[in-house]
Amino acid sequence: MRVEVKARNRSLDFEVGQGEKILYAALRRQARLPYECATGTCGTCRAKLVEGEIEEGWPAAPGRKFCRAEGEFLMCQCTARSDLRIEVGGNVPEADPAARRVDALSGTVSAVRALTHDVAAVDVALDAPCAFEAGQFMAVGAPGIAGMRGYSMVNFARPAQLLEFVIKKKPGGGLSEWLFSDKAPGAKIELFGPLGKATYEPGLEKDILCIAGGSGIAGMMSILKRAGEAGHFGKHRGTVFFGVRTMRDLFFARELSDLKTRQCGSGVASAQVRARLRARGGEAGDGGQVPERARLPRRAAARGGRGDEVPLAGGEDRRRQHPLRQVQLRAAMTKKMACRKSEVPANGLKECEMEGGQKVVVANSGDEYFAVQAQCPHQEIPLCEGMLEGTVLTCHQHLWQWDIRTGEPQGLAEAPLERYEVKVEGEDIMVGEKVKEGA
Ligand SMILES: Cc1cc2nc3c(=O)[nH]c(=O)nc-3n(C[C@H](O)[C@H](O)[C@H](O)COP(=O)(O)OP(=O)(O)OC[C@H]3O[C@@H](n4cnc5c(N)ncnc54)[C@H](O)[C@@H]3O)c2cc1C
Ligand code: FES
Repeated sequence: MRVEVKARNRSLDFEVGQGEKILYAALRRQARLPYECATGTCGTCRAKLVEGEIEEGWPAAPGRKFCRAEGEFLMCQCTARSDLRIEVGGNVPEADPAARRVDALSGTVSAVRALTHDVAAVDVALDAPCAFEAGQFMAVGAPGIAGMRGYSMVNFARPAQLLEFVIKKKPGGGLSEWLFSDKAPGAKIELFGPLGKATYEPGLEKDILCIAGGSGIAGMMSILKRAGEAGHFGKHRGTVFFGVRTMRDLFFARELSDLKTRQCGSGVASAQVRARLRARGGEAGDGGQVPERARLPRRAAARGGRGDEVPLAGGEDRRRQHPLRQVQLRAAMTKKMACRKSEVPANGLKECEMEGGQKVVVANSGDEYFAVQAQCPHQEIPLCEGMLEGTVLTCHQHLWQWDIRTGEPQGLAEAPLERYEVKVEGEDIMVGEKVKEGA
């Protein structure tokens, strides 16, 4: 069947197969008809039927509400029953010979890994490699689920044999719930793409600003990787604002930290990463729900292995100290009640105000308690809103990290943490003097 399109600037035509979505047929044939989501929600692909018969794939599509004029329909949701004559509102650009080929693809869900309680990393091994631009997405369909959903690629490779996605589980959602079920691993899925115009190409002479909430970080990770590899941050600034609801929802902290340290950090302009919480509470340790993949880089990893050199000074000094001196120091400790053990979440953090108004953060790691300064040494950010994993404390704003046992900076951190003496007396956590460096 043939579709004739009249746009504001020109006319064009293309073939559409039986059961093929009109938009997808156009994109496959390099006809650049207007679209955004390609999945029925935004209304950008609406067109007016002048002649012929179409079949509505999803009459309840949210994007239908933008079809107000007589005969308007969504090209991404409708198929042709006959030859068609249609009109689209704007201009349709000429085909770009350099554009990536857009087509139907297939693949297998090769891995699903939990990143948080409701976000998973999903890998799809393609049956045939494809090429895409950093920032693009695929329309994804699964067996037995009506319609397709858009998911942005996290990775960047050319050609790509594996597509990496980050998927947030939507309660009651058809495809996202399926991806979280035991049906997904090993299942065959269909894809259409690559799609989307919000892409990065080396040569872009601009700063990059990424603002993402939750799984919306996906396509930006691809852009940041591509730009970092292309040396973009040597000349231009990059800023990432990553919004999550609570520390429990934070993921990709390690990946963002790696990106900044290894790929972007060497540049002149460099990159800034800021994670922002929408609400307090639910910090790591709250209910033991530490995001499994939110593990952050150890000093060695973040500094290309050089960090393997353990800070011997502090450790050796401590070992060489006369045991009596240590005892005396402890005996002389002026203690103040900070809080009760029950107030500190298991493997979590609690800000305490002591007598006299001084604030500290008390951290619990296994059977041990530690006390450190209340605010990040970088900026005035409350460290109690950060994340504690084992003995590694992460500030959620710029992902600075420390070992709370020593206060030693790790990963991106550029300054140590002040520590305080801690003594547990029954149920009470008593905090004493600031620990002198090297002690
Ligand atoms: C460009 C783009 C990129 C995106 N990238 C990501 C990402 O990287 N990670 C992420 O988690 N989410 C992403 N999303 C959101 C994602 O596409 C889904 O909306 C979300 O996962 C919920 O899907 P669901 O199947 O769980 O929910 P559902 O409520 O079942 O479906 C949501 C969407 O599926 C389609 N749909 C539902 N029913 C039908 C039907 N009967 N016929 C046709 N279509 C139907 C519609 O597009 C609908 O809005 C992106 C969306 C877009 C538009
Ligand atoms: S492109 Fe968004 S509704 Fe069709």
